[in-house]
Amino acid sequence: MHLHKYEKYWLIFGGASLIVFLLITGIMAFHYGSHPPSSIKTINYEKVDDIAPFNNPGVHRVSGKDWDYEVVLVASAFYYNPAELHVPKGSKVKFIITSKDVIHGFEVAGTNVNMMAEPGYISEYTTTVDKAGDYLIVCNEYCGVGHAQMHSMLKVVD
Ligand code: CUA
Repeated sequence: MHLHKYEKYWLIFGGASLIVFLLITGIMAFHYGSHPPSSIKTINYEKVDDIAPFNNPGVHRVSGKDWDYEVVLVASAFYYNPAELHVPKGSKVKFIITSKDVIHGFEVAGTNVNMMAEPGYISEYTTTVDKAGDYLIVCNEYCGVGHAQMHSMLKVVD
């Protein structure tokens, strides 16, 4: 089989790129242990109200951890509990959420906080809130007739 010179170069370039990409992915995964986040924490969604920390939803000051506050929030059709959250500006906040029924969204508009609230799973995300203001929390997963009304409010106060 005759291959044109440039065709050969192109094949070598393609093959080499593939090997480089696979090597980078392999080194990131196996050497640095970088994996996509996964919902490894599970919960019985029928007993959410009885299981800590969801038996006490709200904003909790914590000490001795890498973050200052834990925001525990339960999503269900078609509201969030609690409906309003207050955290001081500059604090490091860990959001811990779950759902009692179907899949809901948890997007803090204007920030990079955006998670799914899935029945049976606990979703967590830690971030620092460094700008004061009112942030609307919206459900961005279609969950039923009340989907568009499903919201909460995060107030970052000075
Ligand atoms: Cu909850 Cu859409």
